Amino acid sequence: MQLVSIDRLITRVVMSGTLAVLATFTPGQVTAQQSAARFAAVAPIEREVTFAGDVAEILQQNCQVCHQPGGIGPMSLLTYQEARRWAARIKTQVEQREMPPYQYDTDVGIQDLKYDPRLSEQDIQTIAAWVEQGAPEGDPALAPPPVVWPDPTRFRMADQFGPPDVIVRSDPYTVPAGGQDRWWQPVVDTGITGNRCIRAIETKPSVAGRSVTHHANSSWRGAEAGGGGQLSEYALGKIGEIIPEGACRTAPANGQVAFDIHYWPKDVEVANDQVEIGIWFYPEDYTGAYRQNLTLYFLNGGRGFDIAPHGTLMTQGFHQFNTPVRIDSWQPHGHTRLVAMSMQILRANGRTENVSMVSNWSALWHHSHIYADDAAPLLNVGDKLLLTGWYDNTENNKYNPDPDQWVSIGDRTADEMSHAWIAVTHLDEEGYQEIVEQRAARRRLASEQQD
Ligand code: HEC
Repeated sequence: MQLVSIDRLITRVVMSGTLAVLATFTPGQVTAQQSAARFAAVAPIEREVTFAGDVAEILQQNCQVCHQPGGIGPMSLLTYQEARRWAARIKTQVEQREMPPYQYDTDVGIQDLKYDPRLSEQDIQTIAAWVEQGAPEGDPALAPPPVVWPDPTRFRMADQFGPPDVIVRSDPYTVPAGGQDRWWQPVVDTGITGNRCIRAIETKPSVAGRSVTHHANSSWRGAEAGGGGQLSEYALGKIGEIIPEGACRTAPANGQVAFDIHYWPKDVEVANDQVEIGIWFYPEDYTGAYRQNLTLYFLNGGRGFDIAPHGTLMTQGFHQFNTPVRIDSWQPHGHTRLVAMSMQILRANGRTENVSMVSNWSALWHHSHIYADDAAPLLNVGDKLLLTGWYDNTENNKYNPDPDQWVSIGDRTADEMSHAWIAVTHLDEEGYQEIVEQRAARRRLASEQQD
C-alpha cells in the first residue's frame, strides 16, 4: 500500500517545479543557504556509530524535552536501555520526519525559522546507521553528561525580562486518568486596564499537567479586542514569542483570553489543572511604529464546502494588503482530512514564490512557523498571498477516521476547517525600504566576514 496519497504526490511535483524561483528570493539569502545545507542529502555513514559517542547527544537535544518521565511523549528516552528498546521505531519515525513532531517541508520555501526543531539530515543518518549496526552502546565514558532541565515551575523568559507583567490562568480542569482526548475552552478576564504593546508571551502548563497538555492556543475576546486575534500558542519545547522591536501587537484593555487547550489523558488523573500565560509589555510610552497582528486568513472565503466520501478537495484563498507588510509567522489549520497546506506569494509582476509548505499535516500538532528576522517575507502593495489546502477523504489518508462519510466545514474534529493563522506586521513604504536596506547591509557584512 502506498503511504502517500496520489494527490499529495501531484502536489509535491507541482511545488518542486517552482522551487527554482525561490533561489532568487534575496531577503535572508545568506542564512537560508546555511539552513538549506542542514537538509541536503549526506553520504551514508560507514564508520562505527554508538549510543554513547553519537546518539545520546542527539536525543538530549531533540527528543528528551518530551520523552522523559512526566513529559508528553509515550516513553522516556533518557538512558541507553530505554532508547535501545525503541531503536527500530526511532529509526522509522526520524526517517519519515514524524519525530520530532514538526510538519514543515525541508525542500520548499523558507527554511530559516525560529525555534526550528527539525533534525539535520546528518543526525537522521547517524541514528539510522546506529540502528542498522545493532544499536550498540559504545563506551559509557564517552556519553555526554545528563541534561539538567530548567525548573518547570518558572517562566523561562523571566531570565531575560523579569517576572511577567500579567499572568492569565485558564479555569481549573480535571484531566481524567484515561479515555479520549479532551478539549477545554474557558474564557477568562485578563485584568489589563489599558491598551499595551506586548513584548513577549510565554504559555506554561502546570508541572503535573505537563505530561497531558498536548497544546494550548489562546486568542483575544471582548469588544475592545477589535474582533479578536490570536494571542499565542503552546507546544512543548517552544519557549514563547518575542514581538520584534518597532512593532506593536496590542493587548486590548478590558478584554478576555479564550483558551483552546488539547489535553491528552495519560495514566494519572491531574486535578484542577491550569495553564498559565505570562505576558510582558513594552514600556507604557512605547507605541511601536508598526502594528502587528495575528489573525485568521481563510482558504474558502469563510464559506462552507463538502468533501465527498472517498473524494479529495483543494481550497485556495487569495489575500492582499493596502500597505506593505512583513509576514512573521504561519500556522496552517485543519483537521483529519487536511493533508497539506502551502503559502505562496504572487508578485505584482506575475512571478510566484514559494514561502512555506506542510505536506505531512497532522491535526495532533499545531505549530506556528515563525520566520527568522531576516527571512520573513516582505509584500509590497499589489503582491498577493496565496494559501492552498489539500484534503484527502480516501483510505490513503492514514489519519482519516472514516472515508465513507461526507465531510463539511464545522468545529467538531470530524468536520473540516480551512484557514491559516498568520502574524503580519503592517508597514509603510518607509518601513519597508528600511527593512530591505538593513537586510542588504547585514548580507554585505556577512559576506565580508566570510572572505
Ligand atoms: C514535542 C514533543 C516531542 C518531541 C520533541 C519528540 N517526541 Fe516522540 N513522541 C511525542 C508524542 C506525544 C508521541 C506519541 C504520539 C505521536 O506519535 O505523535 C511520540 C511518539 C514517538 C515515537 C513512537 C512511539 C510508538 O508508540 O510507536 C517514537 C519512536 C518517538 N516519538 C521518538 C522520538 C525521537 C527519536 C525524538 C527526537 C528525535 C522525538 N520522539 C521527539 C512527543 C515528542
